[in-house]
Amino acid sequence: MKTDVDLLIVHAGQLLTLAGPNDRPRTEKALGDLAIIPDGAVAAADGVIVAIGPTAQVLDEVAPGRDGGVIDAGGRVVLPGFVDPHTHLIFAGSRAEEFEMRLAGATYQQISHAGGGILSTMRATRAASEDELLKAGWQRLDRLLAHGTTTVEVKSGYGLTIDDELKCLRAVHRLSASHDVDLIPTFLGAHAVPPEHSRDPDAYVRFLIDEMLPAVVEEDLAEFCDVFCEAGAFTPEQSRAVLEAGLEAGLDPKIHADELSDLGGAALAADLEAISADHLLCASDDGLRAMADAGTMAVLLPGTALFLGLPYARGRRMVELGVPVALGTDFNPGTSPTWSMPMVIALACLGMRLTPAEAITAATINAAHAIAAAEEVGSLELGKAADIVVLDLPDYRHLPMHFGVNPVHTVVKRGQPAFRADRGVQRPT
Ligand code: NIG
Ligand code: FE
Repeated sequence: MKTDVDLLIVHAGQLLTLAGPNDRPRTEKALGDLAIIPDGAVAAADGVIVAIGPTAQVLDEVAPGRDGGVIDAGGRVVLPGFVDPHTHLIFAGSRAEEFEMRLAGATYQQISHAGGGILSTMRATRAASEDELLKAGWQRLDRLLAHGTTTVEVKSGYGLTIDDELKCLRAVHRLSASHDVDLIPTFLGAHAVPPEHSRDPDAYVRFLIDEMLPAVVEEDLAEFCDVFCEAGAFTPEQSRAVLEAGLEAGLDPKIHADELSDLGGAALAADLEAISADHLLCASDDGLRAMADAGTMAVLLPGTALFLGLPYARGRRMVELGVPVALGTDFNPGTSPTWSMPMVIALACLGMRLTPAEAITAATINAAHAIAAAEEVGSLELGKAADIVVLDLPDYRHLPMHFGVNPVHTVVKRGQPAFRADRGVQRPT
């Protein structure tokens, strides 16, 4: 008896399964192992993978449903949907003017000190309704999906009052319930000190811990708690206080660490056994070694280095030191306005000297580990979500080679076609 399936993809020239032990992130040699099946096939029922292997074998095992659902990949590359583990997707307004100011020589920090940067987006976001944020978020998610992303982490952090942070996180939940892409919410109340607290940042930290965090937890609006640990944002001491309070309330810590300066954010993340430390452009070897020992994921965001004109994080060095690495877009209006994981993979190879295979692992299964979702997504294995991307490429190494274009041919989310390059985003009729 053949298993009935409602999705069958056959003749993947290279089926990148990323199969392997999923109890911990891939490091060192395992980072470069894509577990490729030549002429591969994958089948799904009810959104879950039920058969995977060489096409001839899978065709023996399954019977496709009557209403079609068969995709002939025609020799193309097939891989898990990208997991983007770090975005600031919910915001209003635009930072186009600041972009021009930076091109003319102003630095990100100078613009921030003058009341622009995060605070300029905060003003626009406070003025926007939840529905307006939802609508803008929906359009951005369509673009992420078109670039192969099927799961995305989204941070609050442009509200910075209780009501405005709750508004943003509620929008994240509504989007996750209604859009094909799955959203994982993170509370980033410690993104910037809002102007009403500028005279006493410690008072803002106390308010965040005593009032904002409990309100977020009360409505069960976040999985993680994040802090921007940086000169001009939050000190390591303030960051520790926020993250420890988050932990106590059940939110795993994440840190924007050592992005623009080395404040010891990597070591702090390791000490707190944070699930990830993100950015790390300025992280020291000692900080990285501490992360390797603690198993803390380095979430690398090369779009930010490119966009700010900064040296890339030392990805190759991290891999050599045994630090688990993941890749994300950092999609946000000020420092990385890209929704393209393929572009991020290219930058990781060209700017950080990751191999194409390492970068793909970092953008799929390791990215899933960075948001505690590796049991469900990030690799193509029996029982996992049928979140699958077909790339219009003959070899996975072409993915970073053809930088700056979208190679996505088809995206399948939970066993259903969600995007096709020739037809756009697919909505059930
Ligand atoms: O990850 N570093 C802090 N947060 C964002 C930037 C946000 C902004 O400039 O609006 C980042 O780069
Ligand atoms: Fe960020």
